[in-house]
Amino acid sequence: MSNTLVQRMCEAVRSGQKMDLGDLNAFIDGVAQRSIPVSLIEEWLKSVHSNGISVEETTALTAGMMNSGAVLSWQGDSNVCDKHSTGGVGDKMSLILAPALAACGVRVPMLAGRGLGHTGGTIDKLESIPGFNCNLSPEKMSKAVEKVGCCIAAQNDSIAPADGLLYAIRDVTDTVDSIPLITASIVSKKAAEGLNALVLDVKCGQAAFMKTEHDAVQLAESMVRTAISLGIKTVAQVTDMNEPIGTHIGNALEVTGSIFVLQGQGSKDTRELVMLQGGQLLYLTGKAETLEDGKRKIAQVLDNGRALEIFVEMCVQQGTSSSVAQKLATNPQSVVPQANHRTQLTSSRSGYVESIDAMALAEVARELGAGRFSMEDEIIHTVGFVLHSVKNATIAVGETWMTVHHEEALSSEHLAKLANALRISSQRGASFSRLITTVDESKQ
Ligand code: URA
Repeated sequence: MSNTLVQRMCEAVRSGQKMDLGDLNAFIDGVAQRSIPVSLIEEWLKSVHSNGISVEETTALTAGMMNSGAVLSWQGDSNVCDKHSTGGVGDKMSLILAPALAACGVRVPMLAGRGLGHTGGTIDKLESIPGFNCNLSPEKMSKAVEKVGCCIAAQNDSIAPADGLLYAIRDVTDTVDSIPLITASIVSKKAAEGLNALVLDVKCGQAAFMKTEHDAVQLAESMVRTAISLGIKTVAQVTDMNEPIGTHIGNALEVTGSIFVLQGQGSKDTRELVMLQGGQLLYLTGKAETLEDGKRKIAQVLDNGRALEIFVEMCVQQGTSSSVAQKLATNPQSVVPQANHRTQLTSSRSGYVESIDAMALAEVARELGAGRFSMEDEIIHTVGFVLHSVKNATIAVGETWMTVHHEEALSSEHLAKLANALRISSQRGASFSRLITTVDESKQ
């Protein structure tokens, strides 16, 4: 029976006809229950990847995947919100954003993933905090959010279980880069959180999955349209992912970099991106009059310590001892693991920093153990980089621009690749903005 059903769906997709939505729902149920042979799922994924599907089918696929597991529901105010990033280098935003939003009075039941390809994952970063437990059931997530205002949990099979298997098969059949499949995968998981508002950070550039603005905007439009059709107020921000985000890259280092921002200090670039995403969510949930007002409110809770207090409460709620969480908030380097070796890289010429190649940094970090090549790989939390210089800054010959934190010796290939990642120009470049464009309801 599943054979005929999947064949019928594949034929419809290949001939540009609409799939029967009853068939599609039965297929998603079968995927979630693991009752459809993998070879048939592969065939369907390949036909969707090669031919695409309609907006209506993408929405039905997303809704079906959302309903394949638990869907969180919330009482009271329509103030439940979250953000999703398509994956960046140094992208530590979730660690800062969840507590900052909770400090502004909204609720954030965040589901997050592990590192994918060259990009880092929020869960891997949080697991460098002693005791922090990301394995929360839907009930535990609800309890944590009602108590603290936010939680960050690992994606698991209770929520959108159809995505778990579809994603694993896409990974080995080279069918990941399909706009309808990415849309359904990301939006179904976020919709299952029971959100009222969502911000999508669609990364664009050499170190992103979407290399061009055209592709990033297409993905953004598809996700915004689908999330809105499921009743979630949604805006996508297409942001630059050529330059690394902020000063800290690597799992434990990004926890440290996040705490600096939660202390009201740290990287300006990181702080501004948190304000942009958080401000947008406060505006969408009606907690701010305008986007600018929302940004101001986020800046306020970063400066007055309230976001850091919630971060500490979230760590304690998720298993870290109170004394460790307090120490983490005041002196993160004394809590998160530190690498045995540090190597400083210096500039070979004077001038202005034209660019720092985020992709080159991510590739070296992954090879040194900060990321995985297969899902079974163990990551090394201590490995990464601290940048001392940023795009457009002046730099002198011999000045340190980056410190590499590592456990194994650096090879000459790694050193050469890192040296080439820094480009110096004799002239200062145009001012740099992370935000490339915004996609909202009006652009559908
Ligand atoms: N992240 C997801 O969760 N799903 C995708 O399809 C791509 C990125």
